[in-house]
Amino acid sequence: MIDLQPTDKTHDEGRQGEALILDSPLKRNGKKLYIESYGCQMNFADSEIVASILKDDGFETTADYKEADVVFINTCSIRENAEQRVRNRLSQFGAEKRRNPKLIVGVLGCMAERLKSKFLEEEKLVDVVVGPDAYRDLPQLLNQVEDGHKAINVLLSREETYADISPVRLNGNGITAFISIMRGCDNMCSFCVVPFTRGRERSRDPHSILAEAHDLVDKGYKEVTLLGQNVDSYKWKSADADEDAAIEVNFAQLLEKVALVSSDLRIRFSTSHPKDITNEVLYTIAKYDNICNYIHLPVQSGSSRVLELMNRTYTREWYINRIDAVRKIIPNCAISSDIIAGFCSETEEEHQETLSMMDYVGYDFAFTFSYSERPGTLAARKLPDDISPEIKKRRLSEILVKQQEWSLRRLQESVGKSVRILVEGVSKKSDKDYCGRSDQNAMVVFPATEKIKPGQYVNVIIERCTSATLLGRIAD
Ligand code: 5AD
Ligand code: SF4
Repeated sequence: MIDLQPTDKTHDEGRQGEALILDSPLKRNGKKLYIESYGCQMNFADSEIVASILKDDGFETTADYKEADVVFINTCSIRENAEQRVRNRLSQFGAEKRRNPKLIVGVLGCMAERLKSKFLEEEKLVDVVVGPDAYRDLPQLLNQVEDGHKAINVLLSREETYADISPVRLNGNGITAFISIMRGCDNMCSFCVVPFTRGRERSRDPHSILAEAHDLVDKGYKEVTLLGQNVDSYKWKSADADEDAAIEVNFAQLLEKVALVSSDLRIRFSTSHPKDITNEVLYTIAKYDNICNYIHLPVQSGSSRVLELMNRTYTREWYINRIDAVRKIIPNCAISSDIIAGFCSETEEEHQETLSMMDYVGYDFAFTFSYSERPGTLAARKLPDDISPEIKKRRLSEILVKQQEWSLRRLQESVGKSVRILVEGVSKKSDKDYCGRSDQNAMVVFPATEKIKPGQYVNVIIERCTSATLLGRIAD
């Protein structure tokens, strides 16, 4: 969880002027918005869209909820414990609301979409509930709340991509930023609630994506991460009356276009899907130095039977084939994964297949989870959640231990070498150190010097490492 800080520097003032003349009388001038985000990077990117929509309505953002007029919590439903965290936080906002009854509390994002009006019944302190496709309606919904009503909009859309909205970069370092390239997901993995909370997949117009990338470069940003639930199925088609003249852009082509915006701008992307990642994408990564050699390619399980139950639509062999292709086409590519322990009916042998897959790939990093049944998903309807919490916990810890070994081994491969990094800022642990990421997404920490400033690319000689961080000194 990250508290978002107010940074309005990157907002397009011109656009706000337009909105002022065209529609909004900025009736909320001077009002303060506090917004807190949970869950995936997409939620953090969405909060920046929300801040932009409300900025056009007169709001400023604040990092202190105690001085806010409106508190929004952008929520995640992916696992039960994510929802529990949000509920705990809401009870803290409840205490604040008892102190300041005028405070408006809103729930945005996936939990809003999943629970809909039930949220208003269950959590009496919540005034407004807004799903991920309804953020343009926020000013109007806030009007309803100010008139003394509860307000809700959880309509999902087949078109909304917020393409024309220039995000207010929150909590930013002015160096790295997210760009949403698509919304929703059509995959229907049986464990996953996302297709229900974020709706159908739709791709954003590439012109608006490129305009956003150019704008970021003009403002001094050095790295963008292209975001989508399944970036490999990005597909945009121009709405040409003449079918033959229509232009189509796939993910590989989009990646190339963004890479060409500036050779000084690093490109990352997330998340890739093993069934959809093409060799064309891999060759595009290999072709451009500024597309980072790093792919997040979630396996979920190493067993073909479990993958079928998960409705992942690939087998163990297919996944291995994709890994082999990555290794061949981009030899120095880092690979990370998401892994679920204890999915419905998973046997001990199938769990061992996950561990052996981890050894086959040697992931640089992995996000690991215990299976958590989510209401309404295919698995919740059809497959009993029959692995006991103790077994899930033990399998998860075996996965974790193996991943720590691999993470350490991968980082050790850089010790003694010179690694090029983009300096992001002061290290969390010591203000005498700077930190930044390598092309392969490894966090690198080194003593700060006068000459070096955040936003610069520098070479660092790696002297040692932990299982999470490379430590070194600036190369002469
Ligand atoms: N239980 C556990 N992990 C889940 N994920 C998604 N849904 C569930 C669930 N019900 C994990 C997957 C996915 C990541 C974002 O969260 O590994 O890739
Ligand atoms: Fe969920 Fe699967 Fe879509 Fe990822 S690809 S968001 S895991 S349904």
